[in-house]
Amino acid sequence: MKVFSTYHLPAELKARFKEHNIDYSENPHNRSLTTSEIISDTSDADGIITLLSDNINREVISSLTKCKIIANYAVGYNNIDLVAAREKSIIVTNTPGILTDATAEITFALIFACARRVKEGEEMVREGKFMGWKPELLLGRGLSGKNIGIIGAGRIGQAVAKIATGFNMNVYYHSRIKKVEMENNFHAVYLNLRDLMMNSDIISLHIPLTPETNGLVSKEMLDLMKPDAIIINTARGEVIDEDHLITMLKNKKILAAGFDVYKNEPNINPELFDLDNVVLLPHLGSATVETRAGMAILAADNVIAVLTGKLPLTQIS
Ligand code: DGY
Repeated sequence: MKVFSTYHLPAELKARFKEHNIDYSENPHNRSLTTSEIISDTSDADGIITLLSDNINREVISSLTKCKIIANYAVGYNNIDLVAAREKSIIVTNTPGILTDATAEITFALIFACARRVKEGEEMVREGKFMGWKPELLLGRGLSGKNIGIIGAGRIGQAVAKIATGFNMNVYYHSRIKKVEMENNFHAVYLNLRDLMMNSDIISLHIPLTPETNGLVSKEMLDLMKPDAIIINTARGEVIDEDHLITMLKNKKILAAGFDVYKNEPNINPELFDLDNVVLLPHLGSATVETRAGMAILAADNVIAVLTGKLPLTQIS
């Protein structure tokens, strides 16, 4: 049995494959593979492990001759053509659960960075511009008693709600369906998207990218935000009208925005670099040593299960 991974992954995964006598190889380059490289490297693989940045489209899927499983090393799977995979009876899996806390934590890292002006303060000190404590130096906004509006009430949305209650915030949420867990565990109040946008001090996005959520946080919705609101995106760049958000930030229509994801990742709109009311991270949501190792083990276990005739642990399709 042969398994190929499109990128170098944590050692834990290799050990798992070794235990099962599976012939594992991975992209030897320190860069992402092109589509034609993915096609030539995976053509005879029984299983493949892919990144969220790999475009596993119909062309790639139709070139797979023996593949039984595509294990995405991410919770999101908008990079995979599920219809094409299903047509070839290829199972697709992801890595949910294991990265929930890490993603909720990075969400709060961005919330704090935006609300308490962490980046500006750090730059001031580093550039030798801190001339002593002053009553009005870099005043930010507190979180206690503020309204957080969480869009998406899955695992990550709920983990963000849990942390928010610890900071004494009022939790609003919007999702396709009401979630009793949100309401019972975090006293969260369900709002339609319009009301959530209008009434939240902090807005945080936790929805997968699907045809239904593409552009969900539209120009019209963004225009409803309070002038001192902060918006955080750790989901996918495409769920928000990024161009309009940039215009609003330029014109100081809202207080700030924290980005972990972008529309044309990794090609970031250069206009963002000129703004002082944004905090920009390089898609770090699941980037902890523990989480990435856990994701590797889960991806490997999904592959091993399928290649040994068992049900995968976290099947999408
Ligand atoms: C995922 O796994 O989909 C996340 O975007 C990682 O941060």
